[in-house]
Amino acid sequence: MKNIKAIIFDAYGTLFDVNSAAEKCQDKIGDKWENFANFWRTTQLEYTWLRSLMKRHRDFWQITEDSLDKSMKAFDIDSSMKNELMNLYKVLSPFEEVRETLKILRKKNLKLAILSNGTPSLLNELVRSNNLDNLFDDLFSIEEVGIYKPDSNVYKLPVNKYQIAKNEIAFLSANTWDVSGGGNYGYQSIWVNRNNNIFDNLDYKPDNQIKNLSELINLI
Ligand code: LAC
Repeated sequence: MKNIKAIIFDAYGTLFDVNSAAEKCQDKIGDKWENFANFWRTTQLEYTWLRSLMKRHRDFWQITEDSLDKSMKAFDIDSSMKNELMNLYKVLSPFEEVRETLKILRKKNLKLAILSNGTPSLLNELVRSNNLDNLFDDLFSIEEVGIYKPDSNVYKLPVNKYQIAKNEIAFLSANTWDVSGGGNYGYQSIWVNRNNNIFDNLDYKPDNQIKNLSELINLI
């Protein structure tokens, strides 16, 4: 990739494992923990899209709770688990190669930032609790524009702050629809495809595809 001035990362699912909250409770939830985690994540994302379309914004923490309430009912999980799951969602674990890769990238003359649906306080706590806070220049939250990804107003945030061209930004997401959103906006896109998934049919194909973040070092 040429002429990259900033690397922008999606947070949930890309740097941080959204399933890690339910995984840490698997002794209490049992074998269904993974299906439950996937249902919770899918419902959470659906609520972001639906609320954006309905123009009824609620922040990501509220949406995470609303989607958890539905998911716990759907999977017959005891309501006493709710606080534990919500608290674990605040401190989701990063994928194992994330810290090392960020440290290497930090030595290059590039802006490094997160661009996420998460609220500013959620993003701060996520990076702080995982000792990643000194590795980013900025944590951009959609709360600044009050609408969720993939609205193009979200992807404008780093362009406006850094005063660089769209295509001088490398944007990484593991969420296929977010890769399409950022790429369609004009970023150079990188799909982090950890699980050999199939890409979407949304009139967009990623510029690059990697299996995990460490492959990024050779791309930039
Ligand atoms: C985020 C969601 C898309 O962090 O994972 O914005």
